[in-house]
Amino acid sequence: MAPTTTTVADEAKVASIKTLTDAGAELNSVPSEYTYVKDPNDQADASDPEHSIPTIDFAHLTSSSPDLRSKAIEKLGKACEEWGFFQVINHGVPESLMKSMIEACHKFFQLPEEEKKEFQSRKLLEPIKCGTSFNVAIDKVRLWRDYLKVIAHPEFHSLHKPAEYSDVSLEFSKQTRQVATELLSGISESLGLEAEYIAKAMNWDRGLQILAANYYPACPQPDLAIGIPPHTDHGLVTLLIQNDMGGLEVQHNGKWVLVDCAPGAFVVNIGDQMQILTNDKYKSVWHRAVVNNRATRISIAVPHGPALETAALPIPELLGGEAPKYIGMSYEAFMELQASPAAYMMPCLDHLRVKADN
Ligand code: OGA
Ligand code: NI
Repeated sequence: MAPTTTTVADEAKVASIKTLTDAGAELNSVPSEYTYVKDPNDQADASDPEHSIPTIDFAHLTSSSPDLRSKAIEKLGKACEEWGFFQVINHGVPESLMKSMIEACHKFFQLPEEEKKEFQSRKLLEPIKCGTSFNVAIDKVRLWRDYLKVIAHPEFHSLHKPAEYSDVSLEFSKQTRQVATELLSGISESLGLEAEYIAKAMNWDRGLQILAANYYPACPQPDLAIGIPPHTDHGLVTLLIQNDMGGLEVQHNGKWVLVDCAPGAFVVNIGDQMQILTNDKYKSVWHRAVVNNRATRISIAVPHGPALETAALPIPELLGGEAPKYIGMSYEAFMELQASPAAYMMPCLDHLRVKADN
């Protein structure tokens, strides 16, 4: 008799969340291997007016007026310290380019499974890689998402299908990187360092940039599944765009806050390497992606990190007499650790924390 349910072990069958959700109208509940129950006390409170991430005006940050610029830098520093998350407006990247990028990724996810197969890989730094969940080899619960990760820097990689992906992703990755570079300078200055300090120390000119697209189809029981469970990002800064469906939540003062951003804005967050550099002053904040029962959500997270062999260490000028809280580890080794079963959904930074003597 044919089995009526699909199990995690049956990987070939459910190669993607798309296959599962396309399979038919009868999918009116979340299959058991996808069941993720959130603590009811741990839901975002959309009605709390205090709860919206800060807004940074990029035009002020790059303004020729020293007054506007210094105020924007101060605001940026405060956002990094108090939230670790903010939205960036007036950044100059055309909204049409962002939409084309989202559309190109959407088309990729819609390709027949056969055509995506060649990119399914277990290798962490595969230049082009797609898959489902987080890591199906170690996932305890399947995530309600498919992903496509393409390395855009230091070397640009691309796809032939869909046809427009290559041109659109080249332009999008370049422009996004320019915004990230300016933000990094602003962050350096907000710490009282020269603008180029962090870029130089982290070998930014050879730094990693990944275009990481997420596909979250509508889910019949959104409270019983999760797009991405709570985690922190590994790099220096991540810039994220999304279609008009929200779902990103960030932790702030012990509560989950749904990120509501202006159309065309970038949502930016501080990553683990920045927390190490600043000896915990700027926090790599926990965030998660929840799913909805209305429509497909697409997001593109663009993590920017140091060069792969570079190890971040607390910046001596920022210590002010404090002891460094982290030991060094190359960025590549850090990412491998984060993806390993030992660090599965755990705070990876704890592995690098200097242990107290007593
Ligand atoms: C990520 C991430 C959140 C989202 O890809 O690291 O946090 O809203 N994504 O898709
Ligand atoms: Ni993330």
